[in-house]
Amino acid sequence: MCGIVGYIGDKNCTPILLNGLKKLEYRGYDSAGIAIYNTHGLKVVKCKGRLSCLEDRINEEKPYGCLGIGHTRWATHGEPNDVNSHPHISKSGNIAVVHNGIIENYLKLKEFLILQGYEFVSDTDTEVIAHLVEYHYKGDLVQAVINTISELEGSYALGVISRDSNEEFVAARKDSPLIVGLGDGENFIASDIPAILEYTRDVYILEDREIAVLRKDGVKVFNHFGTEVKKEVFHVNWDVSAAEKSGYEHFMIKEIFEEPKVVRDTINPRIKDNSIVLDDIHISPQDLENIDKIFIVACGTAYHAGIVGKYIIEKLAGIPVEVDLASEFRYRDPIINDRNLVIIISQSGETIDTLFALREAKSKGAKVLSIVNVVGSSIARESDNVLYTWAGPEIAVASTKAYNTQLAALYLIALDFAAKKGTIDAQALDRHIQSLRALPEAIEKVLSNRENIQKFAAGHYNARSIFYIGRGLDYALSMEGSLKLKEISYIHSEAYAGGELKHGTIALIEDGTLVVCSMTQDSLFEKTVSNVKEVKARGAVVMAITQEKNKRIDDIVDMVITIPDVDPFVAPIVAITAMQLFAYYMAVQKGCDVDKPRNLAKSVTVE
Ligand code: F6R
Repeated sequence: MCGIVGYIGDKNCTPILLNGLKKLEYRGYDSAGIAIYNTHGLKVVKCKGRLSCLEDRINEEKPYGCLGIGHTRWATHGEPNDVNSHPHISKSGNIAVVHNGIIENYLKLKEFLILQGYEFVSDTDTEVIAHLVEYHYKGDLVQAVINTISELEGSYALGVISRDSNEEFVAARKDSPLIVGLGDGENFIASDIPAILEYTRDVYILEDREIAVLRKDGVKVFNHFGTEVKKEVFHVNWDVSAAEKSGYEHFMIKEIFEEPKVVRDTINPRIKDNSIVLDDIHISPQDLENIDKIFIVACGTAYHAGIVGKYIIEKLAGIPVEVDLASEFRYRDPIINDRNLVIIISQSGETIDTLFALREAKSKGAKVLSIVNVVGSSIARESDNVLYTWAGPEIAVASTKAYNTQLAALYLIALDFAAKKGTIDAQALDRHIQSLRALPEAIEKVLSNRENIQKFAAGHYNARSIFYIGRGLDYALSMEGSLKLKEISYIHSEAYAGGELKHGTIALIEDGTLVVCSMTQDSLFEKTVSNVKEVKARGAVVMAITQEKNKRIDDIVDMVITIPDVDPFVAPIVAITAMQLFAYYMAVQKGCDVDKPRNLAKSVTVE
């Protein structure tokens, strides 16, 4: 989604803004622009397309100034073109605005402003903000922004500069992320930490409806009544290399290679003396007695992690679990009460559908436990309990390492609940803990055997449609494998429960159709073999993913990708790495923009 950067200090801000926008490219965008204060007024350079187009224009026009805002736009209102790109300028040219989010009442505000003599040049909702700030501006930019946001409905992260002052600029947020970077004689705003990490590690994380006033020598933060609030400085403890490719061709492959480490970081600190210790969550055995149902709510990859969560929580802790897409949950009027626990899963912690689902659950009395990767994100802050996945920054749009850690977190929760409810004995708990401890090494083995996957991808990247099948946990895994493939390689793909195929979809299997079959569940193995035979009999080419001990199926399938002999119960955390690698190599073979797939955005902050 849109990215915002802003700077005030003594340096020329053009390269700082451009650099920051480059670090936010992963969020997805289709146009970009900057506005810079200089002695002639506000200089705006913006255009449709990649940052390289903006860079070309900047090289021609050479804007210079020590105060500026920049933006990458992911189109919502109005097609991607030069005019709809941000920043937007007010009627007199006095105010420039960058915005992330959606203003839901923009048509009403637009009508009002047209009556006041304002003319609109773009199709965006953001342009109303620029004119509205000007309408309210009586020499005090902060007050004008406060008055403006009191009239906005919807979501926003804003950066606002005025031609009247090069001494300060204003930022504000509601339901869209925005941080303030605290430098020495210079200060910044950004949608995400990587954009400013080169300059400072100290940040304020703005809360909803807070307004930050940035000067080069200090930052003040106010609530929407205009009262100053004391903010805690959040010190970022990961370094720039975590958000850089470090020699890898793409962020995605770098992040897949980080999986052994991040799974270890998520699991190990939470295993003490052979038991699960989740210091960060406060759910007692008594609390669990009062919980008669769990909802898991999330989007995309995180939703797929939730489906695995359902299997394992029900199996280990014996609590019924319902899994919901966040975008559906909110509007289906779910039956929730104070005897329910809602588990929210989100890498970014900012996905708006998921955040609104969380609020819906809380408003109905449920307690919320979230599994989140980004410390201090909106979902983390609004949850009753948070279990962080220590995956580090995930830059590639396609989620990989975050998924493995979300699964790891769900296993920890399932085992913790089972131990507290007494639904697991000491021996079984010990066995599961040993299986979890073995995961990083098993993932490392999958990575070191990647050549087979790469070769198979090289022979099949022209496939038009690929089916993923599996049963039980393998079905949950297949959904994620299929999503990974379609989002980065643009190959049509569907995931089916192995047993469901014959109820319709098998009609699509013809000579040469590629089928990826997960076969990691011992108890369902023979049944899945039957499904493989059904598709083979209709001409399918089958790639199977299974433990080494099942290698013998190489006589019925076309390719076997083996994973180490891990316990079937935890196999999804290892097998997904093979599927991610397959999707990656297919996309690379096709020449796709792996890290920034078309039409997609990383942190989806609009509904
Ligand atoms: C897929 C992907 C998306 C996200 C989804 C939720 O690779 O990245 O499907 O998983 O948008 O995002 P978070 O986890 O940030 O809430």
